[in-house]
This record gives sequence, structure tokens and C-alpha cells, in this order.
Amino acid sequence: MHYENVVDLKVTQVDQSRIDQVDFDNLMFGKTCSDHMMICDYEDGEWKTPEIIPYGPMLMEPSAKVFHYGQAVFEGMKSYKDGDGKVWLFRPQQNFERINTSAKRMAIPEFPKEYFFSALEKLLNLDYEWIKPGIGNSLYLRPFVIATENGVSASPSNKYRFMIITAPAKAYYEGSVKVIFAEEYSRSADGGVGFAKAAGNYGAQFYPTNLAKAEGFDQIIWTDADTHEYLEEAGTMNIFFRIGDSLVTAPTNDRILDGVTRKSIIALAEEKGIDVQVRRVSVKEIKDAARAGELKEIFGAGTAAVVVPVSAFRHGGEDFELPQLENSYAKQLKANLLDIQYNRAEDPFGWRY
Ligand code: COI
Repeated sequence: MHYENVVDLKVTQVDQSRIDQVDFDNLMFGKTCSDHMMICDYEDGEWKTPEIIPYGPMLMEPSAKVFHYGQAVFEGMKSYKDGDGKVWLFRPQQNFERINTSAKRMAIPEFPKEYFFSALEKLLNLDYEWIKPGIGNSLYLRPFVIATENGVSASPSNKYRFMIITAPAKAYYEGSVKVIFAEEYSRSADGGVGFAKAAGNYGAQFYPTNLAKAEGFDQIIWTDADTHEYLEEAGTMNIFFRIGDSLVTAPTNDRILDGVTRKSIIALAEEKGIDVQVRRVSVKEIKDAARAGELKEIFGAGTAAVVVPVSAFRHGGEDFELPQLENSYAKQLKANLLDIQYNRAEDPFGWRY
């Protein structure tokens, strides 16, 4: 698929690329940004024409609302280079729609589609060399919007800045992760912003995640805020459970991000004939299944993380280990996903862009 309606953006290129200073074999996720970025301001009730400019610091007043009220949303996407040097995006329309869904919830004006796609196309053309070929390599794309109006009154901003920065990236997690099922803290609630990629959803997890890390875990699997009995998502990824040969994941709602990788994994699993159950899944069910030897896998799925197996979990003071299966669903589905993303297989769903 391809979006035709691209507009001409103003472009200021770097004098000298920084690419030669980058060690592509030792990248910290999102730390090194490519040469260019997109910047687009909203003022007087409209988005101005976006510009592509060299990546770099920008000046903002300390009273800008984003610093005080966290009025900000973002997206996570990746671009992939295939063996012929062609560059692909994966379901970018989904990210475009979701950033506007998130924006609406945070009282931020929606961004025009032609600007979004034109900026992506221009950026990827300019920073083509920053996209390294080979499975696992990608250029991570981070579109985001911040409230830039000055003044600390607690009301929506009337000025915004939409930006896209990009950073070469490998997988977010190495190998597998150990998780704790949340028993005290919560990530989101009914009627809240859990479904949105609102910046504060992520910042609010840092403290409880640090506590989990101090106990030797990598991540928290969040449970519903009311009862802490149902497993929801992992904060940087959605979560899947293989019980017997069925794959179970929680339905999306106010509290859970509608992950692009999540829905792609569901579609790929269904296409393989796997019994996929999108339903509530309780901590008790998972612990009972683990004790009965029926819990075969847990894995997370997200753009940055791709597909990550969970090797162990803790809940109620009890520790559980998961078997490392040779032919796990996680491995198979990840391979199917990457084959589509890197243009190594047919794309029956029309996901590649
Ligand atoms: C992504 O998977 O792209 C995300 O947005 C998660 C991020 C916080 C690393």
C-alpha cells in the first residue's frame, strides 16, 4: 500500500551528516538520532506547513504547558530495509490513526494525514543511509506532539508542536524478560487514558518498574486497577499467554493500548490456524495453568520490543518459570512478522507500505 497524496515540504538539509560517528553495532535504544527531523507548529487554529530540519536542540519557554501538565502524545513505528535496499513501513496508517485518537483524548488537535505521510517519506529519503539492512535492524520513528503555549494555567494549550525524530534501533529487549504481575500499583483505569499513547502513561510506570527491577525483574504486567485479578498489558508491549495450544490475550478497552503488533500477531496466529481467544485472563487462571503444566508460553508484543518471551513471573510471593520451547508460538509468530516487515515473504494482509 502507498499513500499518494504527498505534499512538498520545506527542507533544510544538514551540511555534514553525523552518520560516520555512529557505532551501529552498539546502539542504545533511541539514544542516537538521525540527521533530520520534522517539525510542525499549530497556531491560530491550524497546523502550519511542516518543515524538515537538522536534528538538534530547540528553545522553549519553561512555562510551556507540556512541562507542567504533560499534555503530550506519541507514536512508535519502525522502517525496515530489505535485501534490495527498498525501505518499508509497517501499517503506518494505524499509527497515524492512533496518534489522532490519543491526541483527541488529550485535547490536542488532530494532525493532517498528508503532512504525516509526506514527512515520513521525506525523512526516510533523506536519512536513507541510517536504515541498516538485515533482520533486527531498523530506523525507529518517533512522532510526537507537545503543548507549547506559555503559561501555567491548567487548561489546554492553544499552541502545539508535532515532530518526528528517528533513531537507528535494534530490539528493545535482549533475549527474554522476567516479569512481576502488579498487585499494588496500577497503570490505568476505566475512563482514563490507558488506551492512548499519552506521555504520562509511560512516566507513571517508571517508579513501580524500578521497584520491580530492584527485585531482579525487567517489567511489570499490569492488572486491572479495581481488583488486580486480571492481566492487561506490560506497559511497553501487549501480552499473550499460551495455555495448552490456545493463545489468549486481553481485549482492548479504556485501559489497554490497541497495539499494532498485538493485532498483527492475532491475525498471523489465526492465519496459522491457532485458536486465538481475545478475552479477560485472570492471574488465577495463569497460575493454575502453570501449576498444571498447561501454561506453555507468555510473550509480549510491541513495535519497539517486537516479540519477547517471558521466562519467569512472580505473583503473591510465588515464582514461576516458563519452559523454553523449541518451536514456540513466540518464535514462529515473530519470524512470520519479521518476514513481512522486511519484505521476505508474501504480504497477504497488505500491511507493508
Ligand atoms: C513502541 O513500542 O514503539 C513504544 O512506543 C514503546 C516505547 C515506550 C518504547
